[in-house]
Amino acid sequence: MEMTRDRYETLITNAEIQARVDAIASEITTCYSGTVPIMMPLLRGAFVFAADLARKLDLDVEVDFLGASSYGGATETSGEIRMTLDSSSPLSGRHVLIVEDIVDTGLTLGYIQKLIRSRGVASLRTAVLLDKQCRRKSQVDIDWAGFTIPDRFVFGYGLDGPGGLFRNLPDIMALPAE
Ligand code: XMP
Ligand code: MG
Repeated sequence: MEMTRDRYETLITNAEIQARVDAIASEITTCYSGTVPIMMPLLRGAFVFAADLARKLDLDVEVDFLGASSYGGATETSGEIRMTLDSSSPLSGRHVLIVEDIVDTGLTLGYIQKLIRSRGVASLRTAVLLDKQCRRKSQVDIDWAGFTIPDRFVFGYGLDGPGGLFRNLPDIMALPAE
C-alpha cells in the first residue's frame, strides 16, 4: 500500500508529550536528589525522548547509551534481541536510569534490565514514553510511563515509521487503523 504523510493519524501531539515529560522529569528529579545517576537511552528510538527528558531534569546526570535491536518483522519483535551498542561506563555501584521509547511485549526491556542488573548497579529504574500494556508477554518493571497506548503501530518523536522514516516528526503518529 502506498503511504503518504497525510494518511497518518496524529495520536499524541508534541505539546501533550512535552507536558507529560515535564511531569516525569520533576518526579525523576525528586527521586534522584543528592545522587548523580547515569541516564541510559536505548538507541535508536529513545533518542528524542531522552534529549527532552535530560534537559528538563534539575539534576547532575551522566549520559551513556545502549543500542538494541530485535530480529523480526517490520512491526513485531521476534524476541531475539541483539545488542548493537554497549555502555562505555562502569556501572557497578551506580544509579542507572534506562530510557526507552516504547514497551510492547516487554521482551526487549526485560533483556536489557537483566543485563544491566547483572553489573552490580546500586539501583535500576526505567522511564518509558509509550506503553502498549495490552501486548505484554514478559513482566517488566517500569517506574515512569508517559502514555498507555492501544495496539497500533506508532512512529515519530524518535520512533521509526514506514521505510525507516519519520523519526524526526515532532508528534507521535499512527498508521490508519485496519
Ligand atoms: P518489545 O516487544 O520487545 O518491543 O517490548 C519493544 C521494541 O519494539 C519496537 N516497537 C515499535 N517501534 N513503533 C515502532 O516504531 C511501534 O509501534 C513499536 N512497537 C514496538 C521498539 O523498537 C521497541 O524498542
Ligand atoms: Mg525501535
